Amino acid sequence: MPQATLHTDRLELVPLSDEHIDLEVEIDADPLVLRYLAPRARTRDEAVAAHAERMKRGTRVDGLGLWVGFTVCGPQREFAGLWMLQPPHGPSQTFTPGEADLGFRLQRRWWRQRYASEGARELLRHGFDDLKLTRIFAQTMAVNRPSRATLETLGMHYVRSFHEDYDEPVPGSEHGEVEYEIRRTDWPPRQTALL
Ligand SMILES: CC(C)(COP(=O)(O)OP(=O)(O)OC[C@H]1O[C@@H](n2cnc3c(N)ncnc32)[C@H](O)[C@@H]1OP(=O)(O)O)[C@@H](O)C(=O)NCCC(=O)NCCS
Repeated sequence: MPQATLHTDRLELVPLSDEHIDLEVEIDADPLVLRYLAPRARTRDEAVAAHAERMKRGTRVDGLGLWVGFTVCGPQREFAGLWMLQPPHGPSQTFTPGEADLGFRLQRRWWRQRYASEGARELLRHGFDDLKLTRIFAQTMAVNRPSRATLETLGMHYVRSFHEDYDEPVPGSEHGEVEYEIRRTDWPPRQTALL
């Protein structure tokens, strides 16, 4: 099954392709976006190399990969960021059929407007309902409060802490990494009653 184009009320999520390289270069050039992901912003060459890796990973498991998110609610369709639902691939991840790694990275001007959680919620739905995944997890630095808050909003649960070895440590990595998960049996998460 090829990767699907997905829609939410305010976003169109389009499978990553070579035509999106300049958008990846743009988002990875912002040191604040990469603050908890890399020791510094990426050069164009580094972003192009990252794109090639992402495209390769996107061929490993049908339906999984990266999506480029565009806003569809304003007067113009604008690039909001990247969303990921990838086969497990990181140094602290074991490739397991039926599992995928969730991620998101938004342009700074779209932060705190519930775009990350809106797109990610659609990826969780797609992963469980359409791709029949059994477990979706996410890993982030322990000190990445915005990422952890987003994962918690999605109904994902903390499962473990661990340490990763970095060639060039990212400030804050000394506090370690955390992993969150949600299983198909817990999807969709129960809504908290509104009082
Ligand atoms: C992490 C990131 C994607 C969050 O995007 P966002 O669109 O601002 O997130 P949302 O608006 O959907 O917020 C989701 C929840 O997290 C909370 N949140 C978001 N940013 C927060 C912050 N800086 N501090 C505390 N809570 C925060 C929101 O209040 C919301 O909670 P609520 O539903 O209870 O109100 C964004 O900050 C980002 O792109 N950061 C840089 C890249 C990165 O670190 N990605 C994660 C790597 S693992």
